[in-house]
Amino acid sequence: MIIPVKTTTASYEVHLGENILSEFCHRISEKMKKADQIVVVTDEHVWSLHETYFRENFSLPFKMYVVPNGEACKTFESYFQVQTFLLQENCSRNSVLLALGGGAVGDLTGFVAATFMRGIPFYQIPTTILAHDSAVGGKTAINHPNGKNMIGAFYQPSEVLYDFHFLATLPVEEVRSGMAEVIKHAIISDRNWFQEFYSLTSIETIQKDELLVWLEKGIRVKAHIVELDETEQSYRKYLNFGHTYGHAIEASIGYGKITHGEAVMIGMIPALMLSEIHGELESSSAFQLYTLAQKLGYNFQHVLACDFNELASFMLKDKKTTNGELHFALLQKIGEPFVKTISMEEVQKCDEEFRKWIEEGQ
Ligand SMILES: NC(=O)c1ccc[n+]([C@@H]2O[C@H](COP(=O)([O-])OP(=O)(O)OC[C@H]3O[C@@H](n4cnc5c(N)ncnc54)[C@H](O)[C@@H]3O)[C@@H](O)[C@H]2O)c1
Ligand SMILES: [Zn+2]
Repeated sequence: MIIPVKTTTASYEVHLGENILSEFCHRISEKMKKADQIVVVTDEHVWSLHETYFRENFSLPFKMYVVPNGEACKTFESYFQVQTFLLQENCSRNSVLLALGGGAVGDLTGFVAATFMRGIPFYQIPTTILAHDSAVGGKTAINHPNGKNMIGAFYQPSEVLYDFHFLATLPVEEVRSGMAEVIKHAIISDRNWFQEFYSLTSIETIQKDELLVWLEKGIRVKAHIVELDETEQSYRKYLNFGHTYGHAIEASIGYGKITHGEAVMIGMIPALMLSEIHGELESSSAFQLYTLAQKLGYNFQHVLACDFNELASFMLKDKKTTNGELHFALLQKIGEPFVKTISMEEVQKCDEEFRKWIEEGQ
């Protein structure tokens, strides 16, 4: 299956399917004749699990660079080391990068590609559920100690190859993390689709066929929004649903100590509370998703470990904040997002209510 993405700066395809790596290799081999080098950037963990499959199915010559797994690779140090490796290997403007891994490897590799010799082509080969989101849309970044994804570029890949083969080795906490972004794509786009998640009883029992359909839907939602607004001037802000509060939780707990998706799930609850006030959402919507998420094993105790003042200071540093004003993606109804300026006092009221639910074990 192919999902086309057409932005103002690029047109490319997202290829989805199982065991499609060798087909990808054949498809790009003609184009790669012009490339003097292909460098695959991956993380230790992904490489240890999938080296054999990759080598057996990717028959073009390539060099490898292995970075630490998780957020640890989205550092200045890793960024510098990959650039150094490319220079030492005499890579040029005709070299091509392949990002093989989750969102962290994809974000790092994309930013290296955007800046090495002012930009070289790169391909995304996502290996996590979460990366159905991150690999599409061209946001690339590394973290600064003062904030997540603070240094980066909009830089679209040449193609996204989503080979479901890789998903088989994902641990349940990474499935849970990725499912939060899938649920986010549903909640901002389609009421009926969102309702489907209420029939889930656990993350472990998600059926593969069902998951693949959701991933395709999620990619279509992401691709459509990115096509409307590549650089987040308007519609793309909807994709930040749950992320203002979620990113603050992630920063406060410590990057990599909580998965991105778990933080986003946490952040969707105050976003729904605010939507009940400012949109036409039924008053039980936030509590219903909270109950579902608890059943699916999302850990809300993280909220109690964070001080609200610290969360507030992270929210004020967020890229979506301008002149001290918080711009929250909210929902008019399920499937109908909008953006609204929200005062910190109002966020604090929701935070207090949210903490009560968690403390009282509701
Ligand atoms: N660019 C964007 O638009 C965008 C969107 C959402 C998230 N992100 C970023 O993505 C990152 C999170 O992505 P992620 O959740 O994929 O994290 P990740 O890349 O850190 O991967 C999570 C863990 O899963 C492991 N892993 C990867 N593939 C695996 C596989 N097939 N089998 C077993 N283990 C595997 C990794 O080694 C890592 O330990 C964050 O840095 C976030 O900021 C970017
Ligand atoms: Zn996200």
